[in-house]
Amino acid sequence: MISAKLPRIFYGGDYNPEQWPREIWDEDIRMFKLAGINIATLNVFTWGLNQPDEESYDFEWLDEIIDKLYKNGIYVCLATGTANHPAWMAKRYPDVLSVDFAGRKRKFGFRHNSCPNSPTYQKYAKRLVRKLAERYGHHPALLIWHVNNEMGCQCYCDNCEKEFRLWLKKRYGSLEKLNEAWYTRFWGHTFYSWDEIVLPNLLSEHIDASNPDQTAFQGISLDYNRFNSDSVLARYMDEYDILKTITPTIPVTTNYHGHATYKPLDYFKWSKHVDIVAWDNYPSFDTPISTTAFRLDMMRGFKGGDPFMIMEQTPSQQNWQPYNSLKPPSVMALWSYQALARGADTVMFFQLRRSFGACEKYHGAVIEHAGHENTRVFREVAQLGTELEKLGNQLLDSRVETRAAILFDWENWWAVEYSSGPSDQLKYVEEVQKYYDAFYSQNIPVDIINTDADLSQYDLVIAPVLYMVKEGLAPRIEQFVESGGTFVTTFFSGIVNETDLVTLGGYPGELRKLLGIWVEEIDALFPDQTNSMVMKGSLKGFKEAYQCGILCDLLHSEGAEVIAEYGRDFYRGMPCLTRNPFGKGEAWYIATSPESDFLEQLVGYLSEANGIYPVMNTPSGVEATRRTKDGASFAFLLNHNEEEKTVHLGQGSFKDMISGERLEAEVTIPSKGVVIAVETMTELSNGGGVQGGSRSLAGNLSR
Ligand code: GLA
Ligand code: ZN
Repeated sequence: MISAKLPRIFYGGDYNPEQWPREIWDEDIRMFKLAGINIATLNVFTWGLNQPDEESYDFEWLDEIIDKLYKNGIYVCLATGTANHPAWMAKRYPDVLSVDFAGRKRKFGFRHNSCPNSPTYQKYAKRLVRKLAERYGHHPALLIWHVNNEMGCQCYCDNCEKEFRLWLKKRYGSLEKLNEAWYTRFWGHTFYSWDEIVLPNLLSEHIDASNPDQTAFQGISLDYNRFNSDSVLARYMDEYDILKTITPTIPVTTNYHGHATYKPLDYFKWSKHVDIVAWDNYPSFDTPISTTAFRLDMMRGFKGGDPFMIMEQTPSQQNWQPYNSLKPPSVMALWSYQALARGADTVMFFQLRRSFGACEKYHGAVIEHAGHENTRVFREVAQLGTELEKLGNQLLDSRVETRAAILFDWENWWAVEYSSGPSDQLKYVEEVQKYYDAFYSQNIPVDIINTDADLSQYDLVIAPVLYMVKEGLAPRIEQFVESGGTFVTTFFSGIVNETDLVTLGGYPGELRKLLGIWVEEIDALFPDQTNSMVMKGSLKGFKEAYQCGILCDLLHSEGAEVIAEYGRDFYRGMPCLTRNPFGKGEAWYIATSPESDFLEQLVGYLSEANGIYPVMNTPSGVEATRRTKDGASFAFLLNHNEEEKTVHLGQGSFKDMISGERLEAEVTIPSKGVVIAVETMTELSNGGGVQGGSRSLAGNLSR
């Protein structure tokens, strides 16, 4: 549970009363209560307001609003406000200003642009955080700390350069090792002194402004990414340590960027340091539902399946997309339930009252410019508030259980896309999403895990494009397969080590023995070119052939069973899908990027072979997930279609937790509607509660 003070789904969001005269505050609180709001995030962008000069601080407005909210039963998620340095600081201490990828020093303006290695920034940020912790740490309204906001500045200033050299010294110990790791004999880049090393940007190793991934030295650029992610994390840790010292029992978090796959920060590494993962969920009008599902599952994966927070989402529309479509009626609630369905324990918005100036005035809010509660958006927010209140604490801490996982790794992502060749078309996240979609479309639950996860919790692990194999990973995968696991990997895997040096002796390097194959060449296809995978007939239920593209490995079996072969080109007849028995398990290799039909078929086949089943079979566009807790099982059914759909629940006696209605063997869900089905058998016998035996809903709904 995030906080025993409020054992409920947190419902509320960013509130910026400092943008409004005091008279409005009481009116806001009246409406928050009408909407069932129980938490407000305060103080996000207020440093310039709270600290008018080097020595003075003024928190009176904050004292007043925190007290007011608390008196009205609304708790506080308190931001530290360090996401934007004050103007006076930038003028007096230019080291807080960052330098961009093109080497240009920024002036004061915008936000999230303080250099993480600025001594001035660090000194004043820490001082501010200490003051806040001392002032509000023991206020009964305080539920959780919100460090900074969507952290992440990539800086190329002189301070960062100096820090980079120190970071490298620690990592490599000697220049000799560094020269080896970066392969600096290429193009005569050998370094003889640490201060010859410069940051990789448009002034050095990167030359194409339109393609920042293009670098001459992958090793240097990879290390910069690691260093930058660590630098920003160090600033988070500065705050975390102060908050934990002064208020050890208050949870601390920071909100992750809307693209859960936010490239600059290694969120798996970060998540070891947050008490609970918090995410800002901003799908655009054309984001596939399965992409949001993938991001939500990733949030759940960051801390090994623990529930997470939706810290922000818009109740209606954004302002920063090219086309800021409204969420049509019911969609805000549907997407909020989608987050709960995949492991969130909060539903929070940006923001509670819409700004009337600057760039976010056309961003949706719970209270719109009209200023009253008679709006569609407010009514929908209030309706959801009532429903969440009714759910109480029943879902809190429930978990999504599965024995299938997809491996995702930030450093691998950086490396795949820094690679010069074989194909610009290969995008790591897109490739992983294809595999995720194959699970999603069949309602088969899957975890997103990192390379250091304990694989023994799973029966099926898929690692798409595992290009970089970190030290110690290959033996761990071997052990997983040896003891009965099914492992699947793909083309462009097992190629390099952590500094992007190729593992010699034939691809896929360290994975070669496990997979029982070796790859001799890699062909890159043009976007409009395809090849085909001709199935040899050993797997039931598959079509005769499937399309494939992007890359095609030319490989030889060294003992693996060949399950499909290429249908075209000079390598027609060479294997493109193999299975290698290894110990008690098996390792599969997919040598190319197949069409979605194939992936769906394969994921279904391997899941079933491993006893991993869909939560439920539903009509297309009806998402089904399950969370479980203390033997109770909550099946979420989300109808994303424009029409109503009927779902067969199977035998048993169920209730919809949202409407409270009893459900028959089948339930018809309106367009954009949601049902949370829970078994009622035990409820009948004990006269209350939703505890069901684990044999109950799970059993009935799973096959
Ligand atoms: C981000 C920020 C918020 C706000 C929203 C608007 O997520 O964290 O401060 O700017 O975007 O969508
Ligand atoms: Zn810097």
